[in-house]
Amino acid sequence: MRGLKDRRVIVTGGASGIGRATALRLADEGCIVGVFDLNAQTGTQVAETGNSAGGRVLFFCVDITDRDAIEKAVDAFEEQAGPVELLANVAGWDLPVPFLDTDRAFWDKVIQINLYGPLNMHHVVIKRMAERGFGRVVNIASDAGRVGSSGEAVYSACKGGIIAFTKTMARELARSGVVLNVVAPGPTDTPLFDGFKAASPTGGKIAEGLARAIPLQRLGQPDDYPGMIAFLLSDDAAFITGQTISVSGGLTMHG
Ligand SMILES: NC(=O)c1ccc[n+]([C@@H]2O[C@H](COP(=O)([O-])OP(=O)(O)OC[C@H]3O[C@@H](n4cnc5c(N)ncnc54)[C@H](O)[C@@H]3O)[C@@H](O)[C@H]2O)c1
Repeated sequence: MRGLKDRRVIVTGGASGIGRATALRLADEGCIVGVFDLNAQTGTQVAETGNSAGGRVLFFCVDITDRDAIEKAVDAFEEQAGPVELLANVAGWDLPVPFLDTDRAFWDKVIQINLYGPLNMHHVVIKRMAERGFGRVVNIASDAGRVGSSGEAVYSACKGGIIAFTKTMARELARSGVVLNVVAPGPTDTPLFDGFKAASPTGGKIAEGLARAIPLQRLGQPDDYPGMIAFLLSDDAAFITGQTISVSGGLTMHG
């Protein structure tokens, strides 16, 4: 892909699932990758994997709900790697619970991670990009944010919010040289999805049922996403901003 070599990119949630696959693909494309994640053990392993394959991957143990911690980690990344140019906001979390069975503490946790987390990242990173006149951002939402998802009311609200936020930022920042787009995954076989299997009364059968409902007849895998994310961060996508692209085997089809 054009224009990724030597670019400096931060990937949140890069220690697992879609974020891990994205971080390793971007390292393979020649980017200098900063993995921002809560999980120090798996985050360190991702950095080791990327570096032993000849890439340049740095790990930072960061909670994206903590704006001050993000500011410090971005400072540390820029000291080691140089000015951040690309950002992939991948970190996220949910558990399926019918809305009427949830409480305020659960809403707060979901909103902190899935909405405040990306807002914090934008507030710190996009400010620097806008000042320098260049930046590309991919926000990972979910098809839940486009069409809803039973048991995921608050999460869907956050992901729909991320889609609207991205469009607004794309308009506000177009003249500052910053483009922003959204990738919306469908159900994907990651540790996050294991929580859904565990919470479902039918266990693993939820995966079989979803696979039948997906036109391409299977769940997503982490490696289904890095191609689209890398494309949207590359020079090939320089004229694309404010768009949402579902990568979900055809589960949702938007005009
Ligand atoms: N798996 C799915 O079915 C699915 C479907 C649609 C959208 N998504 C979205 O894709 C993204 C990646 O999900 P995944 O399935 O790869 O999940 P995952 O659980 O495999 O990985 C999520 C990563 O985010 C990190 N993380 C969570 N909270 C954090 C915080 N506060 N600060 C820093 N890091 C934090 C975790 O430590 C983990 O490494 C998420 O935004 C998720 O909402 C996933």
